[in-house]
Amino acid sequence: MAEKSKVAIFISGRGSNMAALLYAAKLPEAAYEVVLVAANDPKAEGLTLAAAEGIDTFALSHKGMQRAEHDAAMEQAARGAGAEYIVLAGYMRILTDEFAKRWEGRMLNIHPSLLPRYPGLDTHQRAIDAGDSHGGVSVHLVTPELDAGEVLGQMRVAIREGETADSLAERIRFAEHQLYPRVLNDYLGRENDPQFLLDKVRELALALPQTHERESHGSPGWRAGSEKSGKYFAYFNDQHHGSEHIAVLVKTGSMDELLDLVEAQPQAYFKPAYYGASGWIGVILNRPGLDWDHVADWLERSWRSVAPKSATKLIDAAEQF
Ligand code: GRF
Repeated sequence: MAEKSKVAIFISGRGSNMAALLYAAKLPEAAYEVVLVAANDPKAEGLTLAAAEGIDTFALSHKGMQRAEHDAAMEQAARGAGAEYIVLAGYMRILTDEFAKRWEGRMLNIHPSLLPRYPGLDTHQRAIDAGDSHGGVSVHLVTPELDAGEVLGQMRVAIREGETADSLAERIRFAEHQLYPRVLNDYLGRENDPQFLLDKVRELALALPQTHERESHGSPGWRAGSEKSGKYFAYFNDQHHGSEHIAVLVKTGSMDELLDLVEAQPQAYFKPAYYGASGWIGVILNRPGLDWDHVADWLERSWRSVAPKSATKLIDAAEQF
């Protein structure tokens, strides 16, 4: 089994979601372990539970502190504990943009509404007032914009006759406790799931103009140009030739560039067997917080180096807008 991802949980209060996450981490199929529970309120109830379960805790009141300063201290605690992911569970603080950006793709939040409906506060009352048939809960990636990152999973919760915000909140809590550990687990699992990674690369490669897929030596590959005379710009590489990586191979500009990248960022790049000799680099996909925009940039660059002029002109025109 792959190594477990290390997760820090940030809370502000009761920490019932934290408890759900913590106990789910004890199940055999858990893809993560909790390395820290941190709170912006030293009195947060969840802290004592975490400590009783033998989890490291950290607490620092935000009162009298600058936002950036408090964020930095929380972040430092998470890093110090070796966290690769931050999971917000009822953390009632708005984070600085910089903090959110630094953890993009590696920070999740749970929000008690069916996003994009009702970001912000008072979600239950707003759903009841609007006459909605259901409230619910969403787990999403955190981006600088409040409650607006990619939704990873949702669960609907029926609103009954005469429902109050409190009664609805209480029931939604049950749904939260089911949803959060599951979505977190799936999210972490997918970064090692070859099928998920292949589907993503395929989507990005085929989004470029005049491309098609063709197998090469048993691996999926993508070509630019016509079916007849097209040229490869990417290959999918699933732990081939003894490599532990799942990767996409793309063309670099030169052998020097390839070797420099591999030396400077061995966690992100490697020189693949056979292909490496002709300037193809392996961009590693099965790693925490992979930036898919970066993969898309590599694919486009590699595609540009072989694509017909008619096709690159198309994309140049599109990129002007
Ligand atoms: C939950 O309702 C969650 O959706 C929201 O804050 C609440 C936290 O509750 N973001 P708890 O501390 O996990 O019990």
